[in-house]
Amino acid sequence: MIIGKYPSLRLRRGREESWSRRLMQENDLSPNDFILPIFLIDGSNKKQSIKSMPGVYRYSINRLSQIVDRAIKKGIPMVALFPKTQSNLKDEFGSESLNENNLVCKAILEIKKRYKNQIGIMCDVALDPYTSHGHDGLIKSNKILNDETIEVLINQSLLQAKMGCDVLAPSDMMDGRIGKIRKALDINKFQNVQILSYAAKYASSFYGPFRDAVGSKNSLKGDKKTYQMDYRNSNEALREVALDIKEGADMVMVKPGMPYLDIIRVIKDKFKLPVLAYQVSGEYSLIETAIAKKLINKDAIYESLVAFKRAGANAIVSYYADRLDKIIK
Ligand code: PBG
Repeated sequence: MIIGKYPSLRLRRGREESWSRRLMQENDLSPNDFILPIFLIDGSNKKQSIKSMPGVYRYSINRLSQIVDRAIKKGIPMVALFPKTQSNLKDEFGSESLNENNLVCKAILEIKKRYKNQIGIMCDVALDPYTSHGHDGLIKSNKILNDETIEVLINQSLLQAKMGCDVLAPSDMMDGRIGKIRKALDINKFQNVQILSYAAKYASSFYGPFRDAVGSKNSLKGDKKTYQMDYRNSNEALREVALDIKEGADMVMVKPGMPYLDIIRVIKDKFKLPVLAYQVSGEYSLIETAIAKKLINKDAIYESLVAFKRAGANAIVSYYADRLDKIIK
């Protein structure tokens, strides 16, 4: 209940001076609130720019320390790894996802060897960086197979856990995969590996630049609407989250971010569990492009990020995470 009446109550009193505004501040950002996505590329000595994502790069394994050093120095708790798989290694089954020498496995080993547990590692569980058709699952007669895909995801999860991944993040949206992955992890003595479920993941146009970054854009046939959610829905997100919590998810992700702040809020209010938000590639590139064109000023970045905290997110996956000192003043 909100009480008060003008003229005895004037909310502008509290906004008059900077010290007072700081005192009244309800939300703020710290490096602890961020996860930094890192794109990986084969070869050596590469730091390759990504055309659709100005300011974001793909790193070869031997250059990885450059960006991980930065993340640690800035106090970021976790990085998320995304590979750009060479096209000759892609097939319709996403076999490369199960190769012990794939880019993600090499990166996990490298980071754990150098930094031990100074920083957490999160890995996507999904097949799209590895499939020739660009989908997150296996396909038969133009249908994405649910249960057959889960079998591969279980093996991908076990492999990433074995390499030292701390947080597995299934982003594939197959039904029932959280429970099956949790069970397989537990049987194989990976009880301490966490699961961050992309529970509320919408079929969105805002993923465009990411698909370019991991090289699945041109290969993707059709759309992902038979597994990712319809953005007209919000109750469905609650059902997805409820199921994933029952199946053993430690945290859930809402994705994309800014157009879905309402979803973050309802999930937080209903379930009181750690909710993460993904400020996805399209959101990032829109903001960067608008700043470059001087349509908006740089402060829009901070504004876009604090919105997630206001909505109830515990942490934010953001391509800005390694440049926060320039954003948080
Ligand atoms: C793949 C995946 C996607 C993103 C993260 N994991 C793309 C997709 O589902 O097509 C998007 C991230 C971004 O846009 O920044 N399962």
